[in-house]
Amino acid sequence: MSIFRNRDVFDPDYVPDQLLFRESQLRQLAYCIEPAKNGFSPLNALCLGPPSTGKTSSIRFILEKAEEELNFLYSYIRCPRFKDAYKIFSKIFYDVFAHQPPSMGISKAVLMEKVWEKLEKPLLVVLDDLNFLNKGCINDVLYEILKAPEEFGVKVGVISAVTDLKFPLSLDPFVGSIFHYTEIYYPSYSEYEIREILKKRVEKGFWEDSIDKEAFERAVEITKKAGDVRYGIFLLKSAGIIAESKKKDKITIEEIEMAHEGEAVPFIAKIVSALNSDERAVLRIAYSQEEISTGELYELVSGEVKMSYRKFYDILEKLERLKLIEVTFGEKGRGRTRYVYRKFDIRAMEKALEF
Ligand SMILES: Nc1ncnc2c1ncn2[C@@H]1O[C@H](COP(=O)(O)OP(=O)(O)OP(=O)(O)O)[C@@H](O)[C@H]1O
Ligand SMILES: [Mg+2]
Repeated sequence: MSIFRNRDVFDPDYVPDQLLFRESQLRQLAYCIEPAKNGFSPLNALCLGPPSTGKTSSIRFILEKAEEELNFLYSYIRCPRFKDAYKIFSKIFYDVFAHQPPSMGISKAVLMEKVWEKLEKPLLVVLDDLNFLNKGCINDVLYEILKAPEEFGVKVGVISAVTDLKFPLSLDPFVGSIFHYTEIYYPSYSEYEIREILKKRVEKGFWEDSIDKEAFERAVEITKKAGDVRYGIFLLKSAGIIAESKKKDKITIEEIEMAHEGEAVPFIAKIVSALNSDERAVLRIAYSQEEISTGELYELVSGEVKMSYRKFYDILEKLERLKLIEVTFGEKGRGRTRYVYRKFDIRAMEKALEF
């Protein structure tokens, strides 16, 4: 009994052959890379948008296409894996020197000098999930790359992707003044768009008629609520595995619900891992209540951590943007007070916060 036609299409690093609803972002990325194809510096770009809006996929999509006529080099860096500037520079070295690692113990400055001296073609550095690095490191890395054209006469550009809309404000003014970029915005997907994206994945990944219509709609509904297509894709894969293990030839709502219970924790844990301790505290306290006004929540938070209302408010906005909480006016129309609600199951959130 088999559900999967191709299980790989549900993998996190699978790049679909068609990226729906991202034509304009792909066009802008292609425009930034175009000069590199002709021997000039690529234009810098900053891809901004909430998690799972296709930033990584669209960058990889464009790079795969460019590879067919590649007359520039690129170094793709998933920042959370590298953590500090030295490791990032080592990865750039590794890519520029055709997969040769730098010799042990050489300094950051020497390492990058070797990179710049070696460069004969334009170089594109992709800094994906850049906001996972600490501020000092971000500024170090950007500064080293952005000053290279002037200091070493090389042709280099940066494409970075971040989820934090306030990211540009966190740059050192000095780095900010040399970092000129095209901003490419990735809005959240609507329910219609989520349905179409998941439908494509189902067609590619499952055998025909392997998922109940009702079950698929439930998956769309859960995905919409989580506000995240990546979650929907995990959910479908997981439900498929459960159905196969039960020797069923069709996924029903039951498998979707089972998968939903099992997948929530690692999914939330990934988002939560990028938060700092103040943000985690606000999140944890918000989840301790079914419904709480923003004012009351601030009081509870202040009892544990010292923070200004302004900062608290910024954190609340960020948590809402990451779709971990919902902030709306009270259900019973109680004036202008705003209330905070959970977006996920409380037990799943508690477990995710333990990671
Ligand atoms: N437009 C789309 N068409 C098809 N699949 C998509 C689309 N957008 C996102 N996906 C799928 O959703 C998942 C998340 O996409 P991706 O990793 O590109 O998002 P992201 O914006 O980089 O997220 P993050 O900020 O968390 O890194 C991937 O599995 C990807 O294949
Ligand atoms: Mg990404």
